[in-house]
Amino acid sequence: MQADQKKALYEEATKELVSITEGETNVTALMATVSCILSEKFDYYFWTGFYVVDPNKQNELVVGPYQGTLGCLRIPIGRGVCGTAASTRETQLVADVHAFPGHIACDSRSNSEIVVPVVNADDRLIAVLDVDSVELNSFDEIDRVELETLMQRIFAQ
Ligand code: SME
Repeated sequence: MQADQKKALYEEATKELVSITEGETNVTALMATVSCILSEKFDYYFWTGFYVVDPNKQNELVVGPYQGTLGCLRIPIGRGVCGTAASTRETQLVADVHAFPGHIACDSRSNSEIVVPVVNADDRLIAVLDVDSVELNSFDEIDRVELETLMQRIFAQ
């Protein structure tokens, strides 16, 4: 996808999400709405959703709201792409998931992936946003910047 087209779609998605979620503080409702709007907006998003820090097991992520095929239920923090994003609190941009050490294959059709840490207004990690694509190399710096900004606007304000 062309860079301008991609930026325009993120701008639309951000506007829609900021408007729809205004005043909403329930985290499950916010995550469900973000998953829905993003997966409808982008054809290359194959799996779109959240892995949430389990309040009862702080060293594990547990699947949250998502759109797509069946996701794994739990991921240890520090393992796979999601677990690495959670432990480092840094976005993971993975051009080829099969080359990522410890990648957890929930669906063998996924080939590239971006995982963005989600923090709340107290700067506490609450989840990661995981987006997978069936194509190699689907995500770039535009996706990273736009999704990091969107997560900040929706969950940290
Ligand atoms: N590929 C991810 C697992 C989650 S799913 O793809 C839905 C990972 O390695 O963290």
